[in-house]
Amino acid sequence: MKKLSARTEGFTDSVIRRMTRVCNQYGAVNLSQGFPDFEPPAAILDRLQQVAHEDYHQYAVTWGSQRLRDALARKQSRFMGCPIDPNSEIVVTCGSTEAMMAAVMTVTDPGDKLIVFSPFYENYGADVILAGAEPIYVPLYPPEFNFKPEELEAAFRQNPKALILCNPSNPSGKVFTREELLLIADLAEKYDTYVITDEVYEHIVYAPHEHVYFATLPGMWERTLSCSSLSKTYSITGWRIGYIIAPPAIIDVAKKVHDFLTVGTAAPLQEAVVPGLLFEQSYYDWLRELYTGKRDLMLKGLDDLGIAHTVPQGAYYLLLDISRYGFASDLEFCEVLARDVGVGAVPGSSFFREPVNHLIRLHFAKKDETLLEALNRLESLDKKIKPRR
Ligand SMILES: Cc1ncc(COP(=O)(O)O)c(C=O)c1O
Repeated sequence: MKKLSARTEGFTDSVIRRMTRVCNQYGAVNLSQGFPDFEPPAAILDRLQQVAHEDYHQYAVTWGSQRLRDALARKQSRFMGCPIDPNSEIVVTCGSTEAMMAAVMTVTDPGDKLIVFSPFYENYGADVILAGAEPIYVPLYPPEFNFKPEELEAAFRQNPKALILCNPSNPSGKVFTREELLLIADLAEKYDTYVITDEVYEHIVYAPHEHVYFATLPGMWERTLSCSSLSKTYSITGWRIGYIIAPPAIIDVAKKVHDFLTVGTAAPLQEAVVPGLLFEQSYYDWLRELYTGKRDLMLKGLDDLGIAHTVPQGAYYLLLDISRYGFASDLEFCEVLARDVGVGAVPGSSFFREPVNHLIRLHFAKKDETLLEALNRLESLDKKIKPRR
């Protein structure tokens, strides 16, 4: 038999999703793969029941149903502070996952280079490889996960086609400041580079930090593909609804890529989510408060246990420092943690380009009782896994 595709040899299956399987095996509290264990808003669920008996069972328009795009354009125009045309400036995709893949395929040809900040959400590595592109990694330095402007400019000098910007960022929890974004914008302009954003956590940002949409910076609308999703904002990660917002010339190409990748996301779900997009500001205030409470609960719990951790500015992840347990492999540590302590985490090495093995990632998009149970289990951490340092 001939060899299967060489391009897939460059990556393994997703470590994040593998850890969910490990959690299920050991009955661990799953703080690995980032999805809520609480219900989506009732208005969306009520509409879901109704649409089963309405006429939404065949293909929707490939780039998204008219009602969904209209509602999305209204919502995003309000938050981004610029008018977005529902017909020419939006493609609805199967989650931000497809939006990012489609955006990379829209912008790059095989052999093109793409700037990726490290640590990064693991899908970007696969997106770049699948597109036949080549990543240029630029480190973000803890604890604030800042980049060095000279290192970023050195990456831009290598003639990249685009930069991938995850903001707010998974796994670091970094929310890029306006000044940092303006610096990136200057370089994007100077070196004529596209910017592909992943803003799935746009509404999960902790005061005093604020989310700035990159596309709204002076001159950036023309060169930005804003990718995002309804997964995190409405607690519906299983519905697979995301989108790209960009100027018509870019969206024309993205529509073609999306059409041939997936045709479209589930038509009944596109209809059922519309009430969510019509929510007032109070919903987004509530969401921010909800996650602020969960973040604070985790920060206090980890401080009480004496476990060193990052303090997220946005998104819902924490990185824990496991240096003192002296494991050579953070993957092995996560497996032992799930098996012996009963808490599921993701090895930090799956997010870093640099050789990092002393961090693990937990997420806190869970009911408070689930988080308290995880903290309770972590109390026995040093008994079950002996510190070596
Ligand atoms: C940064 C980031 N982008 C994209 C996704 C996936 O989003 P979606 O469910 O919209 O595909 C995740 C999920 O955890 C994420 O953390």
